[in-house]
Amino acid sequence: MPWWKSAVIYQIYPRSFCDSNGDGIGDIPGIISKLDYLAWLGVDAVWLSPFYPSPMTDFGYDIVDYTNVDPVFGTIDDFDRLLIEAHKRDIRVLIDWVPNHTSDQHPWFLESRSNRKSPKREWYIWYDPASDGGPPNSWLSRFGHGKSAWTWDAQTRQYYLHSFSPWQPDLNWDNPHVVEAMHKTLRFWLNRGADGFRIDSIPQLSKPEVAVPVGQLAGDEHGLVKKRPTVYDHLRGIRRVLETYRDRVAVGEVTVRDQSKLVEYLNSADGLHLAHNFVLMHQPWGAANFRRTVDELESLIKADAWPCWFLNNHDQSRVASRYDSHGRGAARARVAALTLLTLRGTPFLYQGEELGLTDVFVPEELATDLNGRDPQRAPIPWGPPSQAGPGAGFTSCQAPWLPISPGAEQLNAKSQAEDLHSILCLYRDILEMRRRSPALRLGRYESQETNPEVFGYIRSYGEERLLIISNFSNRRIERPLTDPSSIGRASIVLSTAGNLSRDVDVAGLALGPEEGIVLRLR
Ligand code: GLC
Ligand code: CA
Repeated sequence: MPWWKSAVIYQIYPRSFCDSNGDGIGDIPGIISKLDYLAWLGVDAVWLSPFYPSPMTDFGYDIVDYTNVDPVFGTIDDFDRLLIEAHKRDIRVLIDWVPNHTSDQHPWFLESRSNRKSPKREWYIWYDPASDGGPPNSWLSRFGHGKSAWTWDAQTRQYYLHSFSPWQPDLNWDNPHVVEAMHKTLRFWLNRGADGFRIDSIPQLSKPEVAVPVGQLAGDEHGLVKKRPTVYDHLRGIRRVLETYRDRVAVGEVTVRDQSKLVEYLNSADGLHLAHNFVLMHQPWGAANFRRTVDELESLIKADAWPCWFLNNHDQSRVASRYDSHGRGAARARVAALTLLTLRGTPFLYQGEELGLTDVFVPEELATDLNGRDPQRAPIPWGPPSQAGPGAGFTSCQAPWLPISPGAEQLNAKSQAEDLHSILCLYRDILEMRRRSPALRLGRYESQETNPEVFGYIRSYGEERLLIISNFSNRRIERPLTDPSSIGRASIVLSTAGNLSRDVDVAGLALGPEEGIVLRLR
């Protein structure tokens, strides 16, 4: 069984995780200093958001050198040391790989834009203006708030394409030289010992024909038609590179909002190993929404493909804020944690999720991100400011790159580790339960008929059968299961409400507001 099927993977956003040298920006030595925390929490792998040299217009998703470390994050030796120290603790390391675009400062692009005859001209996507002198067509950039995906280059009098900001020109994956150069960057990190990649912006890798008339693409989700068959050719090529090494994994950022499209990236078994599922992440709070989404994915995915779930990342509002309504955010975050970590598939956590962090308000004069994502990227509070200082243990500097959460006095790692009822200890307990349970790691999933406010399912493997029932509402529910009589007696293994384990008759079992429990069936 490949390791990543039963793994829990924790996303680190290096700028905001831990600052070792007091410049207000997190770095790789800072990550190394927190590996013991991650081992204590019980995660199996980390995914690092980009640490490559970059002008940071998109904080590292605009790369100028795919095979090095930006000095703000440390050195390549720090990276090697991180790998050694992580592996010592049985933590694998995935890195972010951004194949769709480079920085406009990347030497390839500088060469490409220098003149039309440049040998690198065809490494990017250049087009003549439309007959009116405007962009070749109506495609929109994903970061532009309605702005064109084409930027005019006055010197060579053509437009270049960028799915994201103008500082992130799209590479031309139809050019075999680009494919070869990018595969080489994969091998660079695989040879150093990286355990795999999170691959950025996959559906964008292939473009429709530019000749598609102006206007025709309007209404597409992000202004670009999402894929052509060649996306699979590219993925197969990437997979072949990984297959020449042992035990490596590719997880893709597949931003499609339709699970029947999502599974196409997985079901052929020669593309991605895992794909982030944005359909679940976009569900409004509600047991029926979650159940419908999970049941649908389970019915679409082939037996040898594997699900993957997440609720938070560096691009999305945090669960405790996103699902907040009438002050229920913190309670809902506990139910979300139990659900995420007990579904069939590989769960991804995002740093600070385990602390129940909320989005942090960033006043306009301190805003840094080109797409409004600062609130979910605020630094991790490692200790209470009253003891650890204004940097909350993230930094010794007075002005970290983004403000520390005003809730840091309570919502910090140290105070929560000492409080058995904290959400941090809940995450740790669930992860420990998961590690010990083949049913949770690898077992079947069968959803149950329930009260509409409850999401219930049985996970089973061999003799082991666990029932998970979670109340998504803020009311007590007397009869969570429609037909509890078939189940009989069971023992409570874990409850988000912190009740002690005990034997119960499931027919008489009620759920408190936002209570989720795991029961071991006889
Ligand atoms: C992905 C990343 C996001 C980045 C974008 C462009 O969506 O998660 O942070 O801005 O790609 O690379
Ligand atoms: Ca630093």
